[in-house]
Amino acid sequence: MKPVRKAIFPVAGLGTRFLPATKSIPKEMLPIVDKPLIQYAVEEALAAGIDTLIFVTSRKKHSISDHFDRAFELETKLAASGKLELLECITDIIPSNITRAEVSQLETLGLGHAVNCARGLIGDEPFAVLLADDLIKTSGPGCLQQLISQYEQTGQSTIAVQSIAAEESDQYGMIKPSSSDRKVLSIVEKPAPEDAPSQLAVVGRYVLTPEIFPLFDDLGAGSGGEIQLTDAIALLIKEQAVGYCEFSGRRYDCGSKVGFIEATVDYALERPELRGKILHHIRKSLN
Ligand code: UTP
Repeated sequence: MKPVRKAIFPVAGLGTRFLPATKSIPKEMLPIVDKPLIQYAVEEALAAGIDTLIFVTSRKKHSISDHFDRAFELETKLAASGKLELLECITDIIPSNITRAEVSQLETLGLGHAVNCARGLIGDEPFAVLLADDLIKTSGPGCLQQLISQYEQTGQSTIAVQSIAAEESDQYGMIKPSSSDRKVLSIVEKPAPEDAPSQLAVVGRYVLTPEIFPLFDDLGAGSGGEIQLTDAIALLIKEQAVGYCEFSGRRYDCGSKVGFIEATVDYALERPELRGKILHHIRKSLN
């Protein structure tokens, strides 16, 4: 079984749920406390042993590659003024032994289309997909690490799922699980609650086998007029087993305002230097 070494970060979406903030700033650069969402996702991938990071970007996303580049002027100033902690947090966010690549998605035709844009860089290997706007906090191994561990046991594509409220199914890819062996029996994008096959929703972490790529060739637009990754996975299920992983951890939908604010509060409360002040502020506001 080939190891999972490469990860795709689709970051070419329009982020309409977060306008006007995302008119010129990519959603993935919105910070939770002081770190952009994309950096959390990259750190999760690196911790899971990924050594090749592939960003699927669009025209307006230069700030993402800037974020991972060196900033010599800033580094020089921080070094000269002895701000070594700050210097450390902006250098080598991505270690030098890690390969970083970018491919363009020329039109935002959907998540499936974005993943297929990276096809030439993946080749014949299993790979991970991480959606940075799904921020996943774990106390042990990260969510992607959990998926990779399951992939290493089964050799099957493995997708992250979590239970959601029934009325939210029309915001997610929803699966029908086979509870005995953690296999996905069927998957459908954004079904109405009465059509949802279960309450298990797909969240933004996937390990996929390369056999998914040819399935994009004849894939038309699906839900919302977009080329959906879910629809390609539905075709993959007909050819080979696909597993699901009910990961342990808390997921924040940072593409939504409520999820973003919840994450901001929770991550801030975990920082000893912020906790007291934030709690004081919340109590004052509630009174
Ligand atoms: P979303 O469904 O969250 O879409 O995409 P979006 O456009 O970013 O945000 P909203 O819904 O308009 O607010 C899920 C992920 O897929 C990427 C996004 O960048 C996000 O990480 N994506 C989506 C692409 O890279 N290309 C696309 O064509 C669509």
